[in-house]
Amino acid sequence: MTRLITLCSGKGGVGKTTISTNLAAALHKFGKDVMLVDGNTTTPNVSVILGMPKLPITIQDVLAGNAKLEDSVYLHPSGLKVIPAGLSMKHNKQKHKKKMAKVFNELVGTIEYGLIDCSAGLGNEAKNAMEAGDEFILITNPEIHALTDGLKAIEHAREIGVKTLGVILNRVNNKDYEMSKENVEEFLETPVIGMIPEDESIKKAIAIKKPLIYAYPNSPASRAIKRLAARMIGEDYRTIEPETFSQKILRMFGVYK
Ligand SMILES: Nc1ncnc2c1ncn2[C@@H]1O[C@H](COP(=O)(O)OP(=O)(O)O)[C@@H](O)[C@H]1O
Ligand SMILES: [Mg+2]
Repeated sequence: MTRLITLCSGKGGVGKTTISTNLAAALHKFGKDVMLVDGNTTTPNVSVILGMPKLPITIQDVLAGNAKLEDSVYLHPSGLKVIPAGLSMKHNKQKHKKKMAKVFNELVGTIEYGLIDCSAGLGNEAKNAMEAGDEFILITNPEIHALTDGLKAIEHAREIGVKTLGVILNRVNNKDYEMSKENVEEFLETPVIGMIPEDESIKKAIAIKKPLIYAYPNSPASRAIKRLAARMIGEDYRTIEPETFSQKILRMFGVYK
């Protein structure tokens, strides 16, 4: 069975690309057949974050009707399958003759998980990407303006009949001024399925163009993303990646969860 999951936000810059890339990498690392799709065709980032910036056939070529979907699939050195979006203005100018939903539907039956990184806002591009998934995850920060935009995304998903899998709260600092998990769940009427801490390692991983979960496998954000991936596939993270003695000690002191 193929699960096509779109990661959207409403507000920009909340961490959609960071999380979709690393969640896809983690699901792949845990043995699943995963395709990461850049569904952000106007301001794409997936290939940059993965250090694969120059790829001849892109999702825009497929949407323009100039290439087949299977020809736009590339293999990241980790083994993760990736459908990139082209980065140049030339790619932005390509007219889309095909709907994302129709194109991504071709993935059904060929993989176990398709994760679609969405553009910000609720314009046509983001709506098209959301329609292309059977399920949707809202990425947000624990701040009221990100949540109000997120609520609109959840409402839109409901209107078009896409199941909301839950909310990932990103850049959590556990400060008093932040919205708590309970506040977020009450406001969005949706369960929080993952909490990713603010973590400098994310920026370090982007700088070296490697997925965080490989570059800094034991960083707090890395562990949080892997814990979420394990839960998504019905596994216990501590069984898949047992804690070392020092990690156990650090967890007792609140460094890991
Ligand atoms: N948990 C985090 N801790 C620290 N920085 C983060 C975290 N998540 C994302 N970032 C940073 O936030 C910025 C936006 O992230 P990105 O994934 O590009 O967001 P979006 O795709 O929603 O626009 C990037 O500079 C990224 O490094
Ligand atoms: Mg992005």
